[in-house]
Amino acid sequence: MSAQTNFYNRFSFLYPLVDVFLKPQKEKFFNEINQLPYGNLLEIGVGNGSHFPLYKNHKITGIEISSSMLNVAKKNATNEIELFQMNGEELEFAENSFNYVVLSHVIAVADQPEKLLMQCHNVLKPGGKLLILNHFTPNNWLKYLDRIFNLGSGLFHLKSLFYIEDIKAMEQFKLEKEIALKPLSYFKILTFSKP
Ligand SMILES: C[S@@+](CC[C@H](N)C(=O)[O-])C[C@H]1O[C@@H](n2cnc3c(N)ncnc32)[C@H](O)[C@@H]1O
Repeated sequence: MSAQTNFYNRFSFLYPLVDVFLKPQKEKFFNEINQLPYGNLLEIGVGNGSHFPLYKNHKITGIEISSSMLNVAKKNATNEIELFQMNGEELEFAENSFNYVVLSHVIAVADQPEKLLMQCHNVLKPGGKLLILNHFTPNNWLKYLDRIFNLGSGLFHLKSLFYIEDIKAMEQFKLEKEIALKPLSYFKILTFSKP
């Protein structure tokens, strides 16, 4: 088991505190997702699934690597949501199976984001969309704060300093839409398509 999975197994009980902070941006994110035509959607790293009620319009499959997080997610899921314990870096789904793949605060946490994004590409149908909600180090004064936080962010198994351009696998996707969230545009919703 990786140190990161161990971390989420041990601290899943504290995640509702993080959720309080993330709730407003998740509402915007899932509202965007609900505008898309009905489709087969895979969410990777569902966490505790507290956001499941925000899904209104798709067939949802969720995966999570941490058993503790997944156990809470199962309690938050309806019968229509299929959940599996699985590593997003080694997906067990067939190629071209999903219309949408969702990553909410997962890419800066994953051990191997390159592998994760390759897998997202593999399971997406051509024309399918990758939807990402995350923090992104901006090109303004906030990058200095990010550099400072980065010294300690490893303790929480996340990369505070995070540039999506550094992930080569992203070159396979086409950026379709970018929504900068207030305040300070540090958090963004990015929609990519698989050509
Ligand atoms: C910061 S939490 C985000 C949870 C949820 N998506 C949210 O937005 O609240 C990151 C989650 O991703 C999971 N995770 C990290 N790497 C993963 C991987 N390779 N495969 C599946 N889940 C992963 C962690 O266990 C954790 O539950």
